Amino acid sequence: MNIVIIGSGAREHSICASLNRSKKKTKIFCLPGNAGTENIAKNISIDLNDFKKIKSFILKNKIELVIVGPEKPLVSGIVDFLEKFNIKVFGPNSKAAQLEGSKIFTKEICKEYNIPTAGFGIFKNKSEAMKFIKKSNFPLVIKADNLAAGKGVYICNNTKEAKIAVNDIFNGKFGDADKLLIEEYLEGEEMSYFIITDGKSIKFFQTAQDHKRVLEGDKGKNTGGMGAYSPSRLINNKLEKKILNKIINPTIRALGKMGIKYKGFLYAGLMIKENEPYLIEYNVRMGDPECQTILPTLETDLLEIFLACCDKTLDKINIKWKELKSICIVVCSKGYPDKYEKKVEIKNIHKINLGKNEYLFHAGTTAYENNIYAIGGRVLSFVSLSNNYKSAKKKITKNIKNLNWSGGFFRKDIGYKVID
Ligand code: AMP
Ligand code: GLY
Repeated sequence: MNIVIIGSGAREHSICASLNRSKKKTKIFCLPGNAGTENIAKNISIDLNDFKKIKSFILKNKIELVIVGPEKPLVSGIVDFLEKFNIKVFGPNSKAAQLEGSKIFTKEICKEYNIPTAGFGIFKNKSEAMKFIKKSNFPLVIKADNLAAGKGVYICNNTKEAKIAVNDIFNGKFGDADKLLIEEYLEGEEMSYFIITDGKSIKFFQTAQDHKRVLEGDKGKNTGGMGAYSPSRLINNKLEKKILNKIINPTIRALGKMGIKYKGFLYAGLMIKENEPYLIEYNVRMGDPECQTILPTLETDLLEIFLACCDKTLDKINIKWKELKSICIVVCSKGYPDKYEKKVEIKNIHKINLGKNEYLFHAGTTAYENNIYAIGGRVLSFVSLSNNYKSAKKKITKNIKNLNWSGGFFRKDIGYKVID
C-alpha cells in the first residue's frame, strides 16, 4: 500500500516508524520528511502550501492513504481539497479543524454546551480590551484567536504585561487579528488527553504530560514541548468519565449539530484540579512530543486504525496498549526557543545504539553527504519504554550521553513529577 505522511517533525517520524511496523506491506512517502524518515521512507521535497502539487504527486504515485500530521494544512483545508479527488485522508476537514484554528469557535461551543473551561471574554479592539483589563484581577490569560504555533498565549501578571499582549496581537504579530480572547487563569496540573474518531465512534488514544517550558523546574519561555511521559500520573476512571461526558462527547455532539463530522485525532489540552477537568484548548492532531511518547506503546497495527477511521469502521477495532511507561526527552539546538544556529552537524549520531524499547525520532534534521545536520529548534526526540519511569529515563540518559552533541541541550528533569 502506498502511503503519504505530510509533515517533517518527530511526530511524523514516529507515525512513519509505526506504519513501517505494520503487517501490511507499505511504501511510505514523507512530504517533506527529515533525515530520520529518510531511512525508512522516501522523502519528497514539496511546498506544503501547494495543495495542487501535493494532489498531483498523490495521484501519480497511486497513493491509497494520506496522513496529515500538523495543524496548519488541516486548518487550511487540505483534507477538503484532497477528498474532492476521492483521495483517502486521515485528519479533520477545515470546518472541524476550527476547534484548533479558532479559539473563539471552541469557546463558543464550551459556553453553549456547559463544557468546563476558563471564564472568558472576546474583545474587538484595544480600548475595549484595556478597559476590561484595568478592572480585572491578575493573573489573566490573553490569547490571539488564530493559529500562532503555540506562541499566541500571554500569561499576564499586571496591566503592563497585559498591554504588551494586547498591542502584540492587534498590531499583527500573529497575522491579521480583529479579535482577542481574555481568559481567567486556571490553577492545576496540565494533562494531554487523546482520542481518535471516525465521526461515529470515539476511541481512547492515551494520555500524556508535556513539559512546555524551556528550563528545568518548568521555568522560562514556552516551547513546542521539551519532553513528555505517558500515561499521565493524573488519569483515573472517574476523571476519564468526566472528560468524556463533560468535554469530549458534548464537543462531538455540538459539531454534529453544525453538520460537521470529525475524523482524525483530537487532542484535549486539559487543566486538572482536584480530579475535575477543565478544557484549556483543543488541537486537531496528535501532540508533539506526546505522539513520539505514545505511539511506541501502541500494540494494535496503526495502519489498520487509520484505515478503519477513514472507512468509518473504527467500532470494529480493539485498540490495545502495552503495559509500559514511556518517556520522551527532546534535544534542542542551543538558543531555542529564541535564535539558534542552523546547519550544525550532529557528529556522534551514528554512535547511538538503540536497544529494545528505545527509539530516536528526528525533527529539525537534514542529511548531506552521509552527515546529519540540525536545521530546527527541536532536533531529536529520544524515547524509551520500561516497567517504570525511572529505568525508562535511565536508558535515554545513556543514549544522550553517547550523542554528546555540543550544539544541543535538553531538560534533565523531564518526568520529575513521576520520578522521585
Ligand atoms: P494554549 O496554546 O491555549 O494551549 O496555551 C498554551 C499554554 O498556556 C497552555 O499549555 C497552558 O500552560 C497555558 N494556558 C493557556 N490558557 C490558560 C489558562 N486559562 N489558565 C492557565 N494557563 C493557561
Ligand atoms: N505538545 C504540545 C502540542 O503539540 O501542541
